Amino acid sequence: MKILSFVGARPQFIKEAVIHEHLKKKKINEILVHSGQHYDFNMSDIFFKILDIRKPDYNLNIGSGTHAWQTGMMMIELEKVVLKEKPDMILVYGDTNSTLAGSLVGAKLKIPVAHIEAGIRQKPKDMPEEINRVLTDRISRYLFCPSKLAVENLKKEGIENGVYFTGDVMYDLFLKITQNLDDKVILSKYNLEPKEYILVTVHRDFNTDNPGRLKNILEALEEISKDSKLVFPIHPRTKKRIEEFGFSKFLKNVGIIDPVGYDEMMVLTENSLKVITDSGGLQKEAYFAKVPAIILMEDTGWIELVNIGWNVLVDADKDRIIEAVINHSPDFSRFDEHIYGDGKAGEKIVDILLEDKR
Ligand code: UD1
Ligand code: UDP
Repeated sequence: MKILSFVGARPQFIKEAVIHEHLKKKKINEILVHSGQHYDFNMSDIFFKILDIRKPDYNLNIGSGTHAWQTGMMMIELEKVVLKEKPDMILVYGDTNSTLAGSLVGAKLKIPVAHIEAGIRQKPKDMPEEINRVLTDRISRYLFCPSKLAVENLKKEGIENGVYFTGDVMYDLFLKITQNLDDKVILSKYNLEPKEYILVTVHRDFNTDNPGRLKNILEALEEISKDSKLVFPIHPRTKKRIEEFGFSKFLKNVGIIDPVGYDEMMVLTENSLKVITDSGGLQKEAYFAKVPAIILMEDTGWIELVNIGWNVLVDADKDRIIEAVINHSPDFSRFDEHIYGDGKAGEKIVDILLEDKR
């Protein structure tokens, strides 16, 4: 069996690393194709280096652009690779434009598509990630769900064939990597003490590209930074918008750093008091690390963590963000270690793929 994995953005390198480990164990030939959606060293190569991911067999080097341009260019270039390599299956990950491009190319060439992280749904329904998720789930043969809620979501849409609850590959990786991290070295690099700072990330288009929402968030951070130390590894999209809108003045006391590698990010997460974020991955990682997350969204695909009182949704509301930093504390009695599986999602996914009876 020959499998083609299509990745392109930061969260996808992480997810593929887990699948690759198990494909390798089973001696399955995997072609790795990088769309080039993320290309800065700190958004791409650093993950390959830290997670020891092999060099992609192809890098399409598409880069940034409008949604149609980026997705279309990826499809044109990926199709060439797929026609040449003739894989038996295409693996796509998560909810980015690379995910959609990969699934469309596979479906149109009648090559089965396997979606890792299927069934996640959230409002607003017009956010790019939601469009990518819904469309990818519609045309995938295998839908690997990280949560039981994801299985339910697909059922509500009439999708039941090929659906598996496997758990979340991000949980597998978290368990593996956090065993061997040198917290002291990484914390001292950023001049931080354990449990004496709040970790922040912001990158969603609805937060960064809307000046009103971005201003609310930054004003909240400015206020919080009067009493608490903040560390903010900044996504290039957010950095650009802050400069464009003249909002740097809000961040004078905020510890802005460049995006960091996965190892440093996990140390920063585990040692933080709280996390303020609109990242899908980070709100779960905070939970894995038993740290509460304050979520800068009206809804989340990981709503089970809100429902058990661990994470809290505050949207881009300045007062609610500040209030949550002061008052939100998680309900430890409801911590469920197995909400995203048992840390063996990657192994389960590969076993299912190997049983493919086409
Ligand atoms: C993308 C995904 C999002 C995911 C995120 C992970 C889509 C629609 N969005 O969002 O689901 O949560 O990745 O981080 O696919 N840029 C750089 N250097 C880079 C990459 C991007 O400067 O290496 C800047 C460019 O100005 C670019 C902007 O960031 O236009 C946005 O990048 P893009 O990949 O389109 O979306 P993300 O916001 O990264
Ligand atoms: N991440 C990282 N360094 C950073 C910011 C994020 O390693 O500076 C990790 C984050 O912990 C998660 C992954 O990158 O594991 C993807 O997060 P991101 O917020 O980019 O995307 P999302 O999960 O929202 O799609």
